[in-house]
Parts: sequence; structure tokens; C-alpha cells
Amino acid sequence: MSYNYESMVEPLLSWFDKQKRSLAWRDDPKPYYVWVSEIMLQQTRVEAVKGYFDRFIKELPTIADLAAVDDDKLMKLWEGLGYYNRARNLKKAANVVVTEYGGELPANYDSLLSLPGIGSYTAGAISSIAFGLKEPAVDGNVLRVTKRIAGSYDDITKQSVKKELEVDMRAIMPERPGDFNQAIMDLGAMVCIPNGKPLCEKCPLASICVATKKDIYTEIPVKPAKKARKLEDKTVILLEYQGKYAVAKRPKKGLLAGLWEIPNLEGKYDPDDMENLAKELGIKDYELELLGKGKHIFSHIEWHMLGYHLKIKEWEKEKSKITLDTLKEPLPVESYTWVNEEQLEHEYALPNAFDAYKVWK
Ligand code: ADE
Repeated sequence: MSYNYESMVEPLLSWFDKQKRSLAWRDDPKPYYVWVSEIMLQQTRVEAVKGYFDRFIKELPTIADLAAVDDDKLMKLWEGLGYYNRARNLKKAANVVVTEYGGELPANYDSLLSLPGIGSYTAGAISSIAFGLKEPAVDGNVLRVTKRIAGSYDDITKQSVKKELEVDMRAIMPERPGDFNQAIMDLGAMVCIPNGKPLCEKCPLASICVATKKDIYTEIPVKPAKKARKLEDKTVILLEYQGKYAVAKRPKKGLLAGLWEIPNLEGKYDPDDMENLAKELGIKDYELELLGKGKHIFSHIEWHMLGYHLKIKEWEKEKSKITLDTLKEPLPVESYTWVNEEQLEHEYALPNAFDAYKVWK
């Protein structure tokens, strides 16, 4: 149901003027900075984004630099942030911006919306924060805050509910649309929090909030439970030889596409299996260390891992001529690249999923 949110505007802007957080992309809201920060912030907390944002802008100061960046370098800059398609879409969109808009983001909601990786939320955030356009930026925070104010049991995972809220928000957009949108986001992050009891005593909107009045904030927002994640068992085998580690590039499509990984097998294997594996790989003498269990949660999948560190001391004579990069079976990788710690640190993007097995860290 549509709702009139007009009475939240003034108290929210006054609150923001006093409480707003100082953030690099907020203090200097160049369109490029707002864009990059909003993409990083989509699945990541402000505190975690700060360092990544500064490094990204330092390495790629303009949209033209982003359009031209080498994919491996891009992944390295994004390493640890997760949801790597966000970075790939940033680069794709940067190329469109360079070829179609002379290297500057267009000051227009619909043009922004047509760029790869930019949905209604991001188009609204850039339009309002960087260009002062009266467009709403509705994300999970805004849905939670507004549905509590309205005391609404709408299912916030529905597209229709989001669309309707965008219409309601557009209708009340004040002269400071960027501040208004960011004020709701800050309120959602700092006061009307998602987990745990909201800090209603600190909220400038408490007097107009139906959820506060009726004490129903635990029931709102309404979100149907997500489907359970798929569980996958894996055995991660860190191969080391003369101070170098084997890594492989993941396929171009799918989970963690194009990133580097430590060799791994589907399923869980015993130390005895590692002995057979070493034989098959042509390893004559080695040391095996159990690195233990690891778990990584992606949006739809969970990896439950067991890790080994297989330190190769000597290869079989007849296999010694095989260059390490051409080893194939029985690990399901095309080829390994053997890299030292320095390269792992600076060049190869190895996702957080493997953190438990990065013995060099
Ligand atoms: N979360 C996502 N974008 C934000 C912004 N611009 N300000 C505060 N929190 C945010």
C-alpha cells in the first residue's frame, strides 16, 4: 500500500546534519567516487569498504583508468570483498562510459540505469548524491526504516513492494535529495538496525513510527525465509615446492570466475588418499601436514573444506623433466602456476574462501 512519508523529511535532514558520518566518497562526492563506493557498499559494511575504496581510487583515479585496467589487477584490487561480478560490471560499464559518454558518468537516471551493474538503487544513489537529482535510492535499509514507520507487513523481498516505495519516496524528495537518501541509509545502519533491538530512543522519527508505537519492530520488515544453501565438501591441497605454491585459475564462468585458487578436489579425502595422490603426481618424497577444517559461506553455497599442505621434496626421476606448469591429472585443473609469496601478495587474487590455507600469511 502506498503511504505518505512527508513528515519524515525535516526531522531526518536535521538529524543527518548533526550525525552524519564523514566518508571519503561523501566528503568529495565526485560521480565516479559515489559510483564505486555504492557498488562496494552493496554487500559490504562501511568500515570494511573504506580501505578498499581508497586503494581502488589511488590505483584507478579515473573512469578511463578503470576501463583500461587489466582483469587480474582488477580482481586483486577487489580481493576479499567478494561478489566479484560487481568489479567486472564496473569495468564493463566504465568502457561504455568512455565510448558513449566521453568518460564522464551521465547526469541522468535512465542512462545510469542502462549501465552494467547499475540497478534502480545505484542509479538513484548516483543521481541524488553526485548530481543532486530528486531520485530515490531504495535499498534494504530504506525498506526496513520505511516499513517500520508505516507499520507495514509488506513482504520487502517483492519487486512490487520496492517499486511502490520508490514511487512514494520520489513523491517526497526534498531539495537535498542526496542528503535525504543518505540520511535514511545512516539511520538504518546506526539506529533502525537490522539485527537486534533498534535504538528508538535515539531516533528522530520515533514519534511518527507505527512500529515503535505498537511495539511491533521485531515483526517488521517481513522477509520470507531464504532457501537453504547447498553444502559442498572439498579437499584443498596446498602444494609447495622450493618455496613456491601451486595455484590455478578458475573457469571464466560460475562461482569465483576467473579468480585464482589453491588446487582442490570435490569431496573429503583422508591422509591415505593424499599418499596415492602424491604417487600419481609423480612425487617421490614429501611432507604432509593436515591443515584442518575450513568453512566458507557464499550467497547460495557453503564450502566445507579439509586442507592439506603437501610439501614436495623430490620428484620421481622419470617425471622430473615434466615442467611443473604442465601437470594435469588427477587434480581437476588445466595447469598450475607456481608462485612465490611475493607474487601471492601483490599479483594473484586468491579469494577469502581459502583463507584457512594461506600458510604464507
Ligand atoms: N550504504 C550504501 N550506500 C551508503 C551511503 N551512501 N551512505 C551510507 N550508507 C550507505
